[in-house]
Amino acid sequence: KNKALWSGRFAESPAEIMQKYSQSLDVDWHLYKEDLQGSKAHGKMLHHIGILSEEELQQILTALEEIQEEVDQGTLQPKISLEDVHMNLEARLIEKLGPLGAKIHTGRSRNDQVATDYRLYMKKATNDIKGKVLLFLEALLQRAEKDIDVVIPGFTHLQHAQPISLGHYWMAYFWKFTRDLKRFQAAYDTTNVNPLGAGALAGSTLPLDREFTREELGFEVNTQNSLDTVSDRDYLLEFLFAASTLVLHTSGLSEDLIIWSTSEFDFIELPDAFCTGSSMMPNKKNPDALELTRGKTSGVLSGLYDLMINIKGLPLTYNRDLQEDKRPVLHVIHTVNMILDVLTPLVAGITPKEESIKPHLNKGFLLATDVAEYLVSKNVPFRETHEIVGNLVQYCIKHHKTFEDLTIEEWQNYCAAFEKDVYDILSPQLAVDRRKTFGGTARSEVNRQIQEGKNILEVF
Ligand code: ARG
Repeated sequence: KNKALWSGRFAESPAEIMQKYSQSLDVDWHLYKEDLQGSKAHGKMLHHIGILSEEELQQILTALEEIQEEVDQGTLQPKISLEDVHMNLEARLIEKLGPLGAKIHTGRSRNDQVATDYRLYMKKATNDIKGKVLLFLEALLQRAEKDIDVVIPGFTHLQHAQPISLGHYWMAYFWKFTRDLKRFQAAYDTTNVNPLGAGALAGSTLPLDREFTREELGFEVNTQNSLDTVSDRDYLLEFLFAASTLVLHTSGLSEDLIIWSTSEFDFIELPDAFCTGSSMMPNKKNPDALELTRGKTSGVLSGLYDLMINIKGLPLTYNRDLQEDKRPVLHVIHTVNMILDVLTPLVAGITPKEESIKPHLNKGFLLATDVAEYLVSKNVPFRETHEIVGNLVQYCIKHHKTFEDLTIEEWQNYCAAFEKDVYDILSPQLAVDRRKTFGGTARSEVNRQIQEGKNILEVF
């Protein structure tokens, strides 16, 4: 009964260790719904071209429904002697229908079957992830709206640079994740192509109607070349690349939030629900969710390399190496879903600590560029103003002063162009709002971005 469906050519059955080595059920059993969906479409097409009678088709469709039920309920367990999801489900159909069940594989190979199942599976997985990225983008937009009036130091080289709106920070990640969303959409479009009918590699002598199965399975178009069809895995690489850039972004964001939650920075309070304590130190509140997000990045990035390395140098067309194409991708799907499920409520639950941010705004001479540009407005060439303000910063550090502490005489010692109005520019909030360049941190610009962001989310 558990004879392989291809056993006719063989005098002996495979060694037990070979069966274990060969099976792919631990991963491809997840594709059972898509496999049954593919078989239904294929069966309908075989009826459409006169290979199955109406009666036969109905029996097959009913049996496939029952099999789905059996797998859903867990009453049908796959057998490793039957290698993979495709042969397990087909064997069950034959078990139920006898010779009629044996007709379903007419004109079909596991090579175009697995391509079909996988593309169906990836369309759904990609759509699910897109939905979660959208929720995350909404959370970022809401944060930006809430935190637009909070001024924080902006950093380059992790050194104080210029003051920015915290809303501007959130919008920076909004745009990064919007591009990730577009990359997932592009991966979806590449995936949305019907492979069924390519056969093992060369098509079929039977008059298979690929347009019929395409329509039935909801693919946009048919693949153009059967050799390409059974060997193509680059739609998966595209998905993995989209996932990789996404996790590069989530890990960078996590890193900032981890730093901001330290007592040294103390810019934000993380929600308790996404932190953990220490088994020894009662005082600890650790940002574990963010650290895990940073850590899980490696598993996703290696998924992309895993599949690229698998594909490198493979001759056309199908090679069994390709069976290893599911393990990394399924792992990536699982990880990306979890990351988004955690980060969305985590980001929404952050509380900015304005009181403890304030002292940071007086450190690091965040307004040095503003002072230099003030002198530019007094007609001093920028390179000179840069030097003047640099010297002023040196002077302040030496004498433990901030810009606010300087007397007008001290300012004028460095440049005669300084006037009393220099004190008017020394507000971080004003410094933020002066940066009205398109895409700058001024609140007017952040509001424009938020509006633009809302328009984009409506389209997706
Ligand atoms: N389990 C195989 C896979 O996932 C199905 C295709 C097998 N084809 C073959 N010629 N052995 O790739």
